[in-house]
Amino acid sequence: MSIVNAGIDKYIEKHTSQAHSILNTIERETYLKSIYPRMISGKVQGRFIAMISKMIRPEYILEIGTFTGYSAICLAEGLSENGHLHTIEINKELKEQNKNYFDKAGIKNKITTHFGNALDIIPQLGIQFDLIFIDADKVNYGRYYDLSMGKLKMGGFILVDNVLWSGKVLAEISGNTDKDMLAIKEFNEKVQQDKRVENVMIPLRDGISLIQKIC
Ligand SMILES: C[S@@+](CC[C@H](N)C(=O)[O-])C[C@H]1O[C@@H](n2cnc3c(N)ncnc32)[C@H](O)[C@@H]1O
Repeated sequence: MSIVNAGIDKYIEKHTSQAHSILNTIERETYLKSIYPRMISGKVQGRFIAMISKMIRPEYILEIGTFTGYSAICLAEGLSENGHLHTIEINKELKEQNKNYFDKAGIKNKITTHFGNALDIIPQLGIQFDLIFIDADKVNYGRYYDLSMGKLKMGGFILVDNVLWSGKVLAEISGNTDKDMLAIKEFNEKVQQDKRVENVMIPLRDGISLIQKIC
């Protein structure tokens, strides 16, 4: 998943603050119990998105793709005093596990988990968000972006995970059948052409874009 070499990855991890113990537990249990544990944000990306959130101090955060709740807990670290995080997950089998982790993190009253398809749920949310994290199925990234822009406050931020797709974004489009790679490439071009935003792509882990709505 990471595009930097393993030694550098280890060095970065060693020189990044520790995550809270509940996050270490979630990471360990996700690797023990999940079919695709590598989907989890993990320590370095987790500390990064937590710090972004603390810089913004958002009132409302939206996350698209909860998985085992790791990134939701990181993002919630930056919520303002009465702030609230909404997170959307299509896999209902994660319900009990997520509830248990949010309880243990002491943030159950600050988080609402919506189980269902984000494409259906986002339009129903009557909230303007300060920060949105897009981290669900890659083929729908363009749709999530359009929906997110409609739900984002002016000056608000969108974080998007996996924008380098293990470096495959450098592959030729012609004749390529990797749907996820093609969707990510199309998404990155869409953001780059969008005059309503300023954006920066960061080579952290699998690539993360930070996008601000400026008009
Ligand atoms: C990469 S994982 C999210 C990882 C999580 N944000 C973290 O860092 O720990 C993507 C998640 O999106 C969920 N997902 C996929 N398609 C979805 C959809 N249409 N609506 C909501 N969730 C979806 C998957 O079930 C999976 O749990």
